[in-house]
Amino acid sequence: MKVLYCSSEAVPFAASGGLGDVAGSLPKALYDEGVDVRVVMPMYGQIKEKYGDQLEFVKSFDVSLGWRSQYCGVFTLTKDGVVYYFIDNEYYFKRQGLYGHYDDGERFAYFSKAILEMLVNIDFTPDIIHTNDWQTALVTLYINVYYRHMPKFYNTKTVLTIHNIQYQGQYGMDMVGGVLGIPNEYAHQLEYEGACNFMKAGIENADKVTTVSPSYAQEILDPWYSHGLDPLLRERQHKLWGILNGIDYVSYNPADDKGIVANFTADDFEKGKAACKAELREIFGLEENDKPIAAVVSRLVEHKGFDLVKSVAERLVEDGYQLVVLGTGEAQYEDFFGYMAYKYPGQVGVRLAFIPALARKIYAGSDIFIMPSKSEPCGLSQMIALRYGTVPVVRETGGLRDSVHDCGYGNGNGFTFADYDSYKLYECCQRALGAYYDKENWSNLVKSAMESDCSWNVSAKEYIRMYEDCMSQW
Ligand code: GLC
Repeated sequence: MKVLYCSSEAVPFAASGGLGDVAGSLPKALYDEGVDVRVVMPMYGQIKEKYGDQLEFVKSFDVSLGWRSQYCGVFTLTKDGVVYYFIDNEYYFKRQGLYGHYDDGERFAYFSKAILEMLVNIDFTPDIIHTNDWQTALVTLYINVYYRHMPKFYNTKTVLTIHNIQYQGQYGMDMVGGVLGIPNEYAHQLEYEGACNFMKAGIENADKVTTVSPSYAQEILDPWYSHGLDPLLRERQHKLWGILNGIDYVSYNPADDKGIVANFTADDFEKGKAACKAELREIFGLEENDKPIAAVVSRLVEHKGFDLVKSVAERLVEDGYQLVVLGTGEAQYEDFFGYMAYKYPGQVGVRLAFIPALARKIYAGSDIFIMPSKSEPCGLSQMIALRYGTVPVVRETGGLRDSVHDCGYGNGNGFTFADYDSYKLYECCQRALGAYYDKENWSNLVKSAMESDCSWNVSAKEYIRMYEDCMSQW
C-alpha cells in the first residue's frame, strides 16, 4: 500500500500545533505497519537553513495556478524509514511564521497543485493521497479537475482529515477563477454560504473524510460544534470516519526522557515523579508543601475552556491547589494568569510563552492536568499527561471523551464532567483534590493513567483499515 501524506506542517521540520505532531508521528507508525508512506510539506525558510545539507534535490518544474506559472523545486530526505518531500518556492514559503499572511489561500492552493504536479514528475504512484485540513484539501479537487485523465491517477483515492473544523480556508468567490484556476463549472464544489471554502471542496471530493476522534466525528454533525458545516457533513456522513490520534511514544517516554530530571515507569514512579515535582517547584518558585500541583499547558484561547478555568482558579488555589500555567493566547487570559501569579506568590507559577522543553517538565512534575475544552477534536496534551502519570481533569468532548475515563466508574484514568459549566469543573477538581490525599488509591490512579494506551498501535491499524476500505471502492 502506497500513501502520500500531505501536510502544511510536520514535526520536527516545522510545526505550530497538533497537526504538526500528528504528521510527525502517524507516518512513522504506518511505516512500521509496512505501508510505503511518504510525506510532502512546504519547504519553509527555516527548513532549508536547518536541514540544507541533508536535503537532496529531486527535480524542478513549473506549476500553473490560474494565470500564473510558478517555479517549484522538490527536495527530499528520509527519516526513520519515511521519505519526506519538500516543495520549494521561496516567494510563498520563505516567510516569518507558517500562516497568517495576506495570501495564505493562494500559498496553499499553490502547495496543493504542486503536490499533484510533483507526482506527475516523480516515480511514485500512491494508492491514497491523504490530505489534512483546509491547507491541503484542494488536492482532492485539483486531482478531479486536472489530473484524473492521466493513467497514473486512474486508481488514486483521496482522504481528507479534519483536525479542527473551525479553520476552513474561507475567501471571497473571486478567488475561484482568478487565483485557484478552477473553471466555472466546478465553482459549486467550493462555494459554501456564498464564500469560497477550501474545506468544503475537500468534503465534497475526498473518498473518505476522517476526523481525529470518534466522538468528534459525531459532534461535527451538530451545529454546536460544526462551525456551519453540519448540513454538508450530514449529507456526506457515509464517508465520515473518526480515528483517535496517538502520540509519539518514543519521544514522550518518561522512562528515558532526557528532558526531565528523573525517569520513572508505571511500576515505579513515586520517587521519580517526586523529583520532577521538586524541580518544577524550583523553576516556578513554588512553596514546598504537601499540596498537589494542577497544570495547564495550552494555547490560552476560548475553545480550550478558559472562561471556566478563569472563574474557578482562585477558589482552587484557596482550596489547596498549587497552579502552574504555560501558554500564550488571548490578552484576557494572559492578564488573568498574570494577576493570579501576582496575587498568590509561591502557590501559582505562570509563564506566558510556548516552550516545549518546559512543557515536558510540567507534564512530568505535576499531579493533575486541567483541560476543560469547549470543543476538542482530539487533544494531545491530555495523552502526554497520562503518559507521564499526571491525572487529567477534562470535559467530556471529542478526543478528551475518548481518551480519559472517570475513575468514579471503576477502571478510570482521570476525572471528567459533561456540561460546559464552571461549577461542574469546580466539582470535578474538588473530587480530584480529595482523591489526591487518599495516597494508596491515588497511586493506583497514577498507574492506570500511565498504563492507558495512547500510542499509535491501535490507530495506525485503523487508518490502514480505512485506506483498504477506500481502495476497495470504485
Ligand atoms: C488540532 C485540534 C486538536 C488535535 C490536533 C491533532 O490542533 O484542535 O484537538 O489534537 O489538531 O489532530
